[in-house]
Amino acid sequence: MAGFEVITTEQRGAVLLITLNRPQALNALNAQVLEELIAAFADYEADDGLRCAVVTGAGEKAFAAGADIKEMADRPMVDFYTADMFARWQSHVVKAVRKPWIAAVNGFALGGGCEVAMMADFIIASDRAKFGQPEVRLGVPPGMGGTQRLTRAVGKAKAMEMILTGRMIDAQEAERAGLVARVVAPEELLDDALATAATIAAMPPLAVLACKELVNAAFEMPLEQGIVHERRLFQLMTATADKQEGMAAFVEKRPGVFTGR
Ligand code: CAA
Repeated sequence: MAGFEVITTEQRGAVLLITLNRPQALNALNAQVLEELIAAFADYEADDGLRCAVVTGAGEKAFAAGADIKEMADRPMVDFYTADMFARWQSHVVKAVRKPWIAAVNGFALGGGCEVAMMADFIIASDRAKFGQPEVRLGVPPGMGGTQRLTRAVGKAKAMEMILTGRMIDAQEAERAGLVARVVAPEELLDDALATAATIAAMPPLAVLACKELVNAAFEMPLEQGIVHERRLFQLMTATADKQEGMAAFVEKRPGVFTGR
């Protein structure tokens, strides 16, 4: 995974750490960041030795302060429309990544930054993190899923208030609202997120894929259909070697060793 300029990647055991690395622009998400992230995630998906990823932001201040406003400021509408601006986040980041990844939010997660954090399977936040969708102030709505994912995460009242006013919420409010899984001290954020990722990486990989797929299905499927889908994947997983190992390890009172088979 070489040749990146605006992100960095680092392998820690079975965990891949991806860092958005434009601290001088508060890690604003320009086209190059997206293309490098897509490449890093493609490598992650393809490498059987990698089982969980963490995405964070470089510097003390920001996870990402949004899509790059300077890149968008002078472009005409027809450019955004013909390029189907932001579509690749959904197709090449959200949908293409079946393995789990965690957003470790260290500071501002605004606009597209908040939206990328919400694309992750869950968010762990530093108590200095701030979340917001301030796009309305720029004359546009959120464009990378904010109106949909924030509403599903925190409910209509808080999402509508945040999106119509641009108000930022702090990490504590985000945790109360269900936007983040956990809030930790800033100096513990990265270690905590990497340890959480290592815990997931040690789980049976096929069961992890199934769990992720099923939780995401809860947002797309009617309850009855989702329950059937869950049952079928449960039944499918009973054919895996990892199910034999997991249940044998429990009975024999020892830790399981999983192969993804
Ligand atoms: N795009 C491009 N550059 C950005 C940026 C962004 N989203 N956010 C910050 N920067 C740049 C600033 O322009 C500044 O660069 P210069 O030093 O060259 O002037 C540098 O990062 C540091 O930022 P500030 O000086 O503004 O730092 P601050 O501490 O005074 O303020 C902030 C911090 C409140 C986060 C402020 O930077 C800010 O409001 N940023 C923009 C937030 C925003 O509106 N995000 C939404 C973007 S649109 C979007 O994301 C669309 C979508 O849904 C996909």
